[in-house]
Amino acid sequence: MKKFRVAVLANLKKNAPHFEGVSDDQWADLDSESTIEAICEAIRAGGNEADFLEADETIMDTVRAYKPDICFNISEGHYGDAREAQIPAILEKLQIPYTGSKVLCLALTLDKPMTKRILAWHGLPTPDFQSFERVDEPLDESMTFPLFVKPSREGTGMGISYNSIVHDEGELRRQLEFILRTYHQPALVEKFIEGREITVGLVGNLVGPVAHRIPANENAPRIQAGLNFMPPMEVDLKPYLLTDGVYDNRLKTALADQLDYLCPAPIPEDIVDELNWLAAAVFRVTGALDVARVDFRLDINDNLKPYILEINPLPGLSPGISDLVIEAAAAGIDHTELVNMILLTALERYKMI
Ligand SMILES: Nc1ncnc2c1ncn2[C@@H]1O[C@H](COP(=O)(O)OP(=O)(O)O)[C@@H](O)[C@H]1O
Ligand SMILES: [Mg+2]
Repeated sequence: MKKFRVAVLANLKKNAPHFEGVSDDQWADLDSESTIEAICEAIRAGGNEADFLEADETIMDTVRAYKPDICFNISEGHYGDAREAQIPAILEKLQIPYTGSKVLCLALTLDKPMTKRILAWHGLPTPDFQSFERVDEPLDESMTFPLFVKPSREGTGMGISYNSIVHDEGELRRQLEFILRTYHQPALVEKFIEGREITVGLVGNLVGPVAHRIPANENAPRIQAGLNFMPPMEVDLKPYLLTDGVYDNRLKTALADQLDYLCPAPIPEDIVDELNWLAAAVFRVTGALDVARVDFRLDINDNLKPYILEINPLPGLSPGISDLVIEAAAAGIDHTELVNMILLTALERYKMI
């Protein structure tokens, strides 16, 4: 096989900008040097060349100078309402291929309320919600407590803690004030789903028609050919129900190596099938490509009914830590193989192999 020259585009935590008023968890999404080194090593182990380029404003020049055949893009960006879509937009302009989802998907899925509007149109289950741009907007009558408050456009549990679960107007307004002031973006208020925490990773691309409303009807075929589903992973939150209650930034970072990750999740086979189908449907309607992870909560008060919380088209790839990496390991796929699966999926999509 041809040897490909691969530029790994990411934003290192250590290169993140620092400015007055930046919150403690502001750059929690960004990558460590060891993750980037592991990704480069994995690509080299697959017989290709790989080098890291910081995905900042110099990228237009550095990527042209590097002359990659393809970029392995995991850049999260720093600023703006579509920060994850900025590097793909530049690569489109330069006509350089890259792994993973494109501009529209990355801009859309960073914005949780926008994504939920699309899911709702397709009849896919996601908690009822309301978006707030001001602290004093009236709460819709249908939004009964307990509710859950989070930033619209963050990840890695940023802005999320035990206080995100609100039980009355006072708690709601306090949490809205905190989110609007700290993250400078609309707050998303959802019905609180008391339940189990499950995430489903997948690598691949759908083959088949993509333009229909999903699900068209109960008997319509569930199109998921072309996708490789990793075993679902459950994060056991029981020990943290009184301190965190949910999978927040503290658990995802400081306590990440102490959590119990159950993979495959101990859930019935028919629920696994349902989750895989829902993950495929979300992947399809958001236009995701090559790789994604879909986060769910299973409602313990309603027979484990699954609710889609979000889709992550740039799932973390830290060896031994990131959810997708743990899921792949449970399927016998190590970090090196996972990285190469993503790269090969993209090369195939571009018909480069
Ligand atoms: N509506 C909700 N009901 C209950 N818990 C929620 C809800 N939304 C989010 N959470 C909790 O917060 C965590 C992070 O939320 P999520 O929307 O996945 O954001 P992030 O991008 O930070 O991962 C979830 O994994 C879950 O534990
Ligand atoms: Mg999540």
